[in-house]
Amino acid sequence: MARLTGTFWGIGEIRLNGQNATDEHLTPGWTPYSERLLVGTWDVTDLLHSGENVIGALVGDGWYRGRLGWDGRQEIYGDENAALLQLDVECVDGSLIRVASSQQWRVARGSIQSAGLYDGVAVDLRHEQRGWDSAGFDDSGWESARPAPVDTSVLEPRVTTGVRTVGEWGAQIAPRQGSTLVDTGQNIAGWLRLVVVGSSGDEVVVRHAEVLEPDGALHTASLRSARATDSYVLAHDGETVLEPHLTYHGFQFAEVVGASVVSATAVAISSADRPRAEFACADDRLNQLHSNVVWSQRANFVSLPTDCPQRDERLGWTGDAQVFAATACTLFDVESFWLSWMRDVALEQDDNGSIPSVVPNILAAVGTGDDRTWTSGRAGWADVATIAPWAVYESYGSDEILIRQLESMRRWVSHLEIRSAGNLLPAEFQFGDWLDPDAPADAPWKAKAPAEFVANAFFAHSARLLADAEELVGDATRAVLMRELAARVAELTWSRWGEEAIDTQSGAALALELHIAPPAEREHIGARLAEGVRDRSGRIATGFLGTPLVLHALAGAGHFDEAYEMLLRSQPPSWLYQVEMGATTVWERWDALDPAGHTLAASDGSDGMLSFNHYAYGAVVDWMYRAVAGLAPTRRSPGYRTMIVAPRPCRQIPWARASIETRLGTASVSWTIQDGDLEIDLVVPPGSEAVLDLATTESSRIVLNDLAYTGGLVSPGTHHVTVTSPRVFSAAGEASSPQNRASLTGPSL
Ligand code: BGC
Repeated sequence: MARLTGTFWGIGEIRLNGQNATDEHLTPGWTPYSERLLVGTWDVTDLLHSGENVIGALVGDGWYRGRLGWDGRQEIYGDENAALLQLDVECVDGSLIRVASSQQWRVARGSIQSAGLYDGVAVDLRHEQRGWDSAGFDDSGWESARPAPVDTSVLEPRVTTGVRTVGEWGAQIAPRQGSTLVDTGQNIAGWLRLVVVGSSGDEVVVRHAEVLEPDGALHTASLRSARATDSYVLAHDGETVLEPHLTYHGFQFAEVVGASVVSATAVAISSADRPRAEFACADDRLNQLHSNVVWSQRANFVSLPTDCPQRDERLGWTGDAQVFAATACTLFDVESFWLSWMRDVALEQDDNGSIPSVVPNILAAVGTGDDRTWTSGRAGWADVATIAPWAVYESYGSDEILIRQLESMRRWVSHLEIRSAGNLLPAEFQFGDWLDPDAPADAPWKAKAPAEFVANAFFAHSARLLADAEELVGDATRAVLMRELAARVAELTWSRWGEEAIDTQSGAALALELHIAPPAEREHIGARLAEGVRDRSGRIATGFLGTPLVLHALAGAGHFDEAYEMLLRSQPPSWLYQVEMGATTVWERWDALDPAGHTLAASDGSDGMLSFNHYAYGAVVDWMYRAVAGLAPTRRSPGYRTMIVAPRPCRQIPWARASIETRLGTASVSWTIQDGDLEIDLVVPPGSEAVLDLATTESSRIVLNDLAYTGGLVSPGTHHVTVTSPRVFSAAGEASSPQNRASLTGPSL
């Protein structure tokens, strides 16, 4: 039995006897290193043999020492890389051998001349030290390792998964004049493994991009200062396999110059390596949208929840994480991922309780002097402190995250209380309903929904979530106080901005979903929201904060026809516009490509903020599970212990199904409209129960397993439900337009 324990100040890949010792990349991932550095443990028994064994590691800059952020800063955490490794072997005779990194170890530079997360690698294969990680290698020319001036008191065992390969497939290669174009068929975070033919000394350069310009050139402007380029100098004539280490790129396409390409393999990486849900329905465009969101989560769950995987950013933007939290929990088993990152959120919380806009917080040292309001405490961003723990609790059913985060939630809400001085939050910069499609391209915070309304709505929401958490795992007296605070802030917010706010989709959605509007107003707000949607043919008019809520708000007010009209619209701006334009992940901006395939140019004000892989708008998938397929967890009995079965059939979508691997087992709903009846197959896992909330008309009859159903909970097992004369909704405007569909291909995993 052999156990390997280790970490890096930087990032590393551990090698044992010429092989990778772990199946992970970018170890140990990114945490606020001065507070917390994660140590991994791996079983490496199968990699050892009798006789001489060799352990080593490739070490690079990563987040610790490399360039981070758009302002070119480096060495944010330290100026020297270091490795800490320990191998414990229990021999068959019971004796123990421990081999640990020390000054007896040796170091040298190999073929990798540089490796940066944003910039890629520069490799000179002529300097490769063949066999350096296997027995028999002569390392007498290598230098002795030096003790590094590092703080080992911050070491902590890692409780979440590492970054792994989640897919590998052959990419298409197309020779062009002087280069080869590689198309992976799918926008990913990862890299290419190439087999090339060239001559010794040739330089092979691989540049990456998410999309092509209409003339076929790589679109690299959106990468901003990230070079996203791997270069290799070949060491011999003939075939060579090229694969980068200690970096990753966000890309679908690559251009290779300097050698002819024999084959290209796409390697996709992610920390989200265990899908837990499946969704399918009669409209392939929605299935593609679902796939796009799944891939955006994969590409942006790389050690931490990032905004994007390609440009000089890739930061843990708290708003993006907040908006997507519920959807992320549905799609993948990422409970431990959240437990880990939320711990970082608490560690990075400012002394005054404010939550930074990015975690790990590399903005703390940005641009001293000028207005730094935006770096911390912004509505909808900082509220990740309260919203994400609830999403995790509701989806997986364990209150552990609430227990662990309670103090951080309290500190955030009391910070808001202090800032509001017993009243409302003052007017100040907010990201607001960021990237509202009607905001100027160069001022994405200038949304239609009033920023102060949005800010205070989130204040009330955070107070209410804290009250819920106090009731469950905290202090009952505080729960009462928080509920009063939430009610007071909601009331003040409503009376000050309510009327103005509900004229906007996001304002109405927040008023309803965050319970800002008084109960008596809800019906009228829902009706007005629905009317606006009808009047504008389902045109989406929400940014980051309104988008996850708008369909829930329509549905909650009973306006499913309008919710479907928005969901199924394919004219820009809409979710399906990007699908029909051939997207394989979710775009950052609704208008990232015009119908002719031109990218929104920096000169149009995009300022290079034009990612094709931002998951925020993908939060709509949560609604597809809950309302289209009709499978949802409940707040009061979380983790699908009580599951809600509430499909809302739509004329344009005659069948849908979804399943989720809950902690109790598989939960699934599959329905179809047959001869005018709604036929539902249902699987309720052991230890769970289902609430049926069905779309009926006055003449409907409900039959459960051949018996008339008159109400009550459905017990574990497999069931069949028939609803005669069900209520079937209908999206006005466009229906599915198969002739319009882009060719939707990609790898199947
Ligand atoms: C990021 C966003 C983020 C935003 C905040 C952008 O540059 O990519 O997703 O939330 O800044 O302003």
